Amino acid sequence: MNTALSMAYLLAAVFFILSLGGLSSQETARRGIVYGMTGMLIAVVATVASASVQAYGLLAIAMSVGAVIGLALAHRVEMTAMPQLVALLHSFVGLAAMLIGWGAHLDPRIQLSGAEAVIHSTEVYLGVFIGAITMTGSWAAFGKLQGLLSSKPLMLPFRHGLNAAALVVSVVLLLIFVTDDHTALGLTVLAIMTIIALLLGAHLVAAIGGADMPVVISMLNSYSGWAAAATGFMLGNDLLIITGALVGSSGAILSYIMCRAMNRSFISVILGGFGSDGSAVVEDDSYGEARSATHDDVAEWMREADSVIIAPGYGMAVAHAQQSVAELTSKLRKQGKTVRFAIHPVAGRLPGHMNVLLAEANVPYDIVLEMDEINADFPNTDVVLVIGANDIVNPDAQEKPGSPIAGMPVLEVWKARKVVTLKRSMATGYAGVGNPLFYRDNSAMLFGDAKDSVQQLVSKV
Ligand code: TAP
Repeated sequence: MNTALSMAYLLAAVFFILSLGGLSSQETARRGIVYGMTGMLIAVVATVASASVQAYGLLAIAMSVGAVIGLALAHRVEMTAMPQLVALLHSFVGLAAMLIGWGAHLDPRIQLSGAEAVIHSTEVYLGVFIGAITMTGSWAAFGKLQGLLSSKPLMLPFRHGLNAAALVVSVVLLLIFVTDDHTALGLTVLAIMTIIALLLGAHLVAAIGGADMPVVISMLNSYSGWAAAATGFMLGNDLLIITGALVGSSGAILSYIMCRAMNRSFISVILGGFGSDGSAVVEDDSYGEARSATHDDVAEWMREADSVIIAPGYGMAVAHAQQSVAELTSKLRKQGKTVRFAIHPVAGRLPGHMNVLLAEANVPYDIVLEMDEINADFPNTDVVLVIGANDIVNPDAQEKPGSPIAGMPVLEVWKARKVVTLKRSMATGYAGVGNPLFYRDNSAMLFGDAKDSVQQLVSKV
């Protein structure tokens, strides 16, 4: 690799690191994205201009097709469908790693011997293995998020044994593969391992329940990073190794943080729910009657309140209600009321989903608080408005052992003097479990689309 190319890659890597630093807080996130785009531009231009790239015609066609598909997807995708898009994009990284691995194995120009051959074969094998798991795991995640597959965990008999067997067989095949000298046996071994890894990826993700999907998404993000790093080793591309390692490790750290926030075992989730007994909850309908309120009732409670907390969830994103929510907030604050937002780590369908929406609506950052910062304040709060949220405010997480969300920390909204939930029906949220909050004495439902309801409240308070 020549010096100019190395320098360009180093510069791009510095921009990627600055980008990660920028993305760690809302105030600097935009800058972080600009750094990331700059790094990627430098990387692409430097690679295309390097001596190893010659097939410009083919490259131009591939890049144009990719750009058209990317632009069309980015324009069309709804914010609520972002996680599915991210899952699909992760699957492309997996597919690329798998194809490059196969390409490197079949390339007649690569003639190595001794230790170099063993290292090359290991890189190929691991690249294909991680790539295949990432690809089908991402497809399974896409299916679950898009509602094509059930959000309930797939409970095959002996499923942990199946996963363990797949791993053991893959290790044995690796040993055969690295000692093989490009014979038909090596090719067969690689093919068998590819099939095993494809099945393993789909199975690992299918075995994870709806409530743990946030962790799965960041975990697949991490896998796609490692797949890219493996590709970097195969192609001898330093920048891909650095970028892949950055994505892989930051995705792993995010998964770990999310597991801690949701009180889940990291190991259990990455091993496809290992350790959970997979018991399904028996739903009972013994909650009683939910109380329905009118817009006038809620406006009256808000007028009388001194302190208000808004707990937004996925329904706020679906209804595009963030601008109206910001308007309501500003009106209440002008009346001298304390208004704050309570953000659950997995509210919505993306890490930081609610923060992004509220920032877009120009809600001041200092009144947007994380769950841990605000949970203790609910007992001193007059009114809580739950806007299109369900699982993240479900008391069963604390009170009903055996519930799929048992142990997950939740916003303790029921401790406030009054809780009003804005949603369209009594339907369950993503985890598919009932919510006793709606039936409590201090609780009322304001039925309807969240945006319509909030707009009515804005005109009435
Ligand atoms: P959910 O539990 O999914 O509840 C959202 C509620 O919004 C639904 O019950 C729905 O009830 C209501 N809703 C939908 N459209 C609406 C509209 N137009 N107007 C008013 N309400 C509307 O959401 P949550 O409380 O934010 O919890 C998030 C869940 O998603 C958790 O289980 C989490 O594990 C999972 N998840 C999170 C992520 C990340 S990273 N955040 C990723 C994947 C999965 P109606 O149909 O009755 O209106």
